[in-house]
Amino acid sequence: MDLSRAERKLDHIRHALGHERDVYNHFDDIDIVHQSFTSLNFDKLHLTTHVGELNLSSPIFVNAMTGGGGEQTLNINKDLARAASETGISMAVGSQMAAIKDPAERPSYQVVRQENPNGIVFANVGSEATLNQALTAVDMVDANGLQIHLNTLQELIMPEGDRDFSTRLNNIQDIVSSIDLPVIVKEVGYGMSKEAIRHLHSIGVRYIDVGGRGGTNFSKVENMRRQRPFASFDNWGIPTTFSLLEARNVRKELDLHVLGSGGIRHGLDGAKALVLGASSFGMAGTLLKILLEQGYDQLIDEIHHIHKEIKIVMMLTDSAKVSELSESPYVLYGKLKEWESQRV
Ligand code: FNR
Repeated sequence: MDLSRAERKLDHIRHALGHERDVYNHFDDIDIVHQSFTSLNFDKLHLTTHVGELNLSSPIFVNAMTGGGGEQTLNINKDLARAASETGISMAVGSQMAAIKDPAERPSYQVVRQENPNGIVFANVGSEATLNQALTAVDMVDANGLQIHLNTLQELIMPEGDRDFSTRLNNIQDIVSSIDLPVIVKEVGYGMSKEAIRHLHSIGVRYIDVGGRGGTNFSKVENMRRQRPFASFDNWGIPTTFSLLEARNVRKELDLHVLGSGGIRHGLDGAKALVLGASSFGMAGTLLKILLEQGYDQLIDEIHHIHKEIKIVMMLTDSAKVSELSESPYVLYGKLKEWESQRV
């Protein structure tokens, strides 16, 4: 294993978890309307739901983070996968591009399937991946779906990042039309506009993870590694709730499954994403930080706690199923309200 690559991976994780979070949190700009009467029994509520053709026992998924890079990343993925299996949540592996090119990098991805043989696992590639590379990624973890990440700004800020994005839409189109599994196109923390979503839909994409701003911020992460940072882009991007409103607007006309992620801190944020129309929500930085700083048992405890928080919101909105949350009334404030009035 190339040691400097392993160190770079860990450094990246440290920066991703350690950077300063925004003081303003867009999830605070939405309130779900409380309903005093409920017809439900908390102990009989279940969290099963579906995203298109995927049947899930929980609306939570561990979003793509790591893999490759040595023993520590292998252990992180092993623990995340065990936790996913124990709590019934889905999990995406980190970008598999290096492992597609070098089989020595594969064990830390394959461990995710070994630890969770019956769970829902998503493969992950960048939009530079060709169809063959995407198939290798799916095969590597026997995936139930494939995430393709879009991270233009991150690449542009990275000194060694990609500069030519001219073939990417063709790659996505090729993959979506050839792979017979859900293909989820995701952002990594900059959010998706309705224009981007429509464009992706026009080339066949039916699953979108809006991946909005508000949590892990790759401009800040990459700027830490630059001598001359592009700090002016630290606040670039569409916050998750704003992006969910964009997606909700587009979904009125298009056949589309929306997932929400980016800056989800707890179950109430997750429930707000579901109320705004996401059928599932992803958490990356929050869960990894708990695992690394507090350990495996605390991570399990946290996921159970998030499940309870979602059930409490179901009680308080009289939603018998997770999917009914999207019919709950809500009120928007501040920047989120302004965004809605100008954009959707
Ligand atoms: C990520 N993310 C990510 N996304 C992706 O599609 N492929 C990847 O390889 C990675 N790698 C990665 C590493 C680390 C350490 C973190 C914290 C995150 C992005 C991740 O899936 C998610 O989109 C963002 O982190 C936003 O969600 P949170 O962290 O705010 O919940």
